[in-house]
Amino acid sequence: MDIKTYLKERKTLVDSFLESYFSSPLTPKTLNDSMVYSLSAGGKRIRPVLCLAAYEACGGKAEDIIPYASSLEFIHTYSLIHDDLPAMDNDDLRRGKPTNHKVFGEGMAILAGDGLLTEAFYMLSNNRQSSSIQPAAILKVIREIAMASGIHGMVGGQAQDLLSEDAEPDEETLAFIHRHKTAALITASVRSGGLLAGCGDEQIFRLTSYGENIGLAFQVIDDILDVEGETEVLGKPKGSDEKKKKMTYPKLYGIERSKEKAKELIDGAIEALDVFDEKAEPLRAIARYMLERKS
Ligand code: IPE
Ligand code: IPE
Ligand code: MG
Ligand code: MG
Ligand code: MG
Repeated sequence: MDIKTYLKERKTLVDSFLESYFSSPLTPKTLNDSMVYSLSAGGKRIRPVLCLAAYEACGGKAEDIIPYASSLEFIHTYSLIHDDLPAMDNDDLRRGKPTNHKVFGEGMAILAGDGLLTEAFYMLSNNRQSSSIQPAAILKVIREIAMASGIHGMVGGQAQDLLSEDAEPDEETLAFIHRHKTAALITASVRSGGLLAGCGDEQIFRLTSYGENIGLAFQVIDDILDVEGETEVLGKPKGSDEKKKKMTYPKLYGIERSKEKAKELIDGAIEALDVFDEKAEPLRAIARYMLERKS
């Protein structure tokens, strides 16, 4: 299987859904434009694709869960819009375009984020989205994504990230930030695919371990790219972490040790999948791709 083709095909499924979802008129139009601006600016769609890949690893067909998988991108895009605000990371470039608040103003950017977050849960709970999925599975996924995005997950991590600016890095706080602000939603993406497929406890346990490992690795690599990447390739400003004196892996461990840690996490993720057959090959390939990514 060619991973590039796999990722492209799954990303296209998600992109088409996102495009059609916000195509009907909404009043005020500026709110719609603001949400669509950030959603359609690009982005790897890694969270929905992970959800689809986990569903497929458990024997499902990706086409059956596109709305559920796409809800993760609503939440992720909201988190980026708010993360870039002057009151948070104060960044001007995202997905290769001026950040949402630069184009629509801070008030509209806050509301676009609020709108995307809330709409994710409206969509998840809207039965018209489901054909073959049992309501009990959808309820589990709603709980999963709420836990991972809110105060027990991403919002908690983002709060600690803000509170730790300027502070001397320490292992425990750094791990808390990264596990909550990033790994939680990535883990939930993978677990949601497994839950929608109705796979068993052992498989869910393995998917959780895979998700936690790649989730943490993903943020470690994001920190490394902030130092070593190129703004044009990243589509966001290199050096943002240093400017804001963020607590990062390179700051605590240095670049080389951070790269080793990312590699160890990816190895652990792939090992966790050893109970799965070849249907989990895309999950394994996504893990390997994370070590090579430049954006
Ligand atoms: C960036 O996420 C924010 C982090 C949690 C590291 P992505 O690297 O997935 O950003 P997009 O969606 O591709 O723009
Ligand atoms: C943000 O981490 C994680 C989120 C929950 C949005 P960063 O602040 O490092 O993400 P980037 O580098 O701006 O994408
Ligand atoms: Mg941030
Ligand atoms: Mg940021
Ligand atoms: Mg970053």
